[in-house]
Amino acid sequence: MNDPRHYQQLIEQRLSTLELGSRPPELYDPIRYMLALGGKRMRPALLLMANEMFGGNTETSIGPALGIEVFHNFTLLHDDIMDKAPLRRSQPTVHTRWNNDIAILSGDTMFVHSCQLMMQTSSELQAEVLADFFKTAIEVCEGQQLDMNFENQPHVSIADYIEMIRLKTAVLLGCSLRIGARLAGASALDADRLYHFGTDLGIAFQLHDDLLDAYGDPEKFGKQVGGDIIANKKTFLMLSAIESADMYTLDELNDWLRRKDFNAVEKVDAVKRIFEKLDIRSRTQQEIDRYFDRALSALSAIPVADNRKVALRTLSEQLMVREH
Ligand code: IPE
Ligand code: IPE
Ligand code: MG
Ligand code: MG
Ligand code: MG
Repeated sequence: MNDPRHYQQLIEQRLSTLELGSRPPELYDPIRYMLALGGKRMRPALLLMANEMFGGNTETSIGPALGIEVFHNFTLLHDDIMDKAPLRRSQPTVHTRWNNDIAILSGDTMFVHSCQLMMQTSSELQAEVLADFFKTAIEVCEGQQLDMNFENQPHVSIADYIEMIRLKTAVLLGCSLRIGARLAGASALDADRLYHFGTDLGIAFQLHDDLLDAYGDPEKFGKQVGGDIIANKKTFLMLSAIESADMYTLDELNDWLRRKDFNAVEKVDAVKRIFEKLDIRSRTQQEIDRYFDRALSALSAIPVADNRKVALRTLSEQLMVREH
């Protein structure tokens, strides 16, 4: 099955029938709300596609696929608290619709559910799958902490940034693919090759996310446009601007980064004007293309017939032109 929608619909349907509990409703309503908001379902789709690529059976990998999606949604609940984000998938975030305490505890519950789902495979590979998932889950936390550290850290290199997004975003794509491949009986070597395709794709994906955060269409993006600029996130856009600005422009940029009291719209407009002056959009696009090409080369090098890679290639291409 080559059409990514096939996988996304299957995941949507199976997520909607998950029994995650109901009482007390203050704990479970936010979980149901979050999981029903949609989303691209990219990570479980990658897992199932990798599984099919190596001739696996969807029913033996659907538990871990759902587990990865529930885990991802848990990270978003907590990420939105940390990023003070008002919107997610075009709706109020859980901590704004309810409150921080509720978003923390619902998120914790989702994390435990995700672990239970990851165990739902009859495969003798269960211990390996869990170990891969746990290692990755810890790396995501490490990446999230670096992301927050960088908000207040004056000197962040592009290499520091790439490592941060590898941890917070890319390893989860890699892990989804590796688990899907291993559950289908792929060798550790081939599964690792797919993992590296996933991490390069994930880096391109997060760079694109950073670009959309500044330049997305507010009607389509589903998140607050300009949120990264408001929060002083050291995105690729911001770091390239710092790196390439003349002294006068750098002073102006640093002034915005230092200001405690500001009008959000004014700050976003001013920083984006600086980005325009320095041609930051096309620099970022070049970097996205570089990682995306690297990902596609890694996929090509996997010794599996090309017609078995169509689904992964199609989904990857869709992700690179996404608007939300
Ligand atoms: C959002 O992930 C978090 C990032 C790593 C940028 P997605 O863009 O996959 O979010 P949904 O699940 O499709 O909403
Ligand atoms: C989040 O990165 C990555 C994780 C949730 C682990 P972002 O903070 O850029 O994600 P969005 O933009 O809020 O979706
Ligand atoms: Mg965020
Ligand atoms: Mg964040
Ligand atoms: Mg973002």
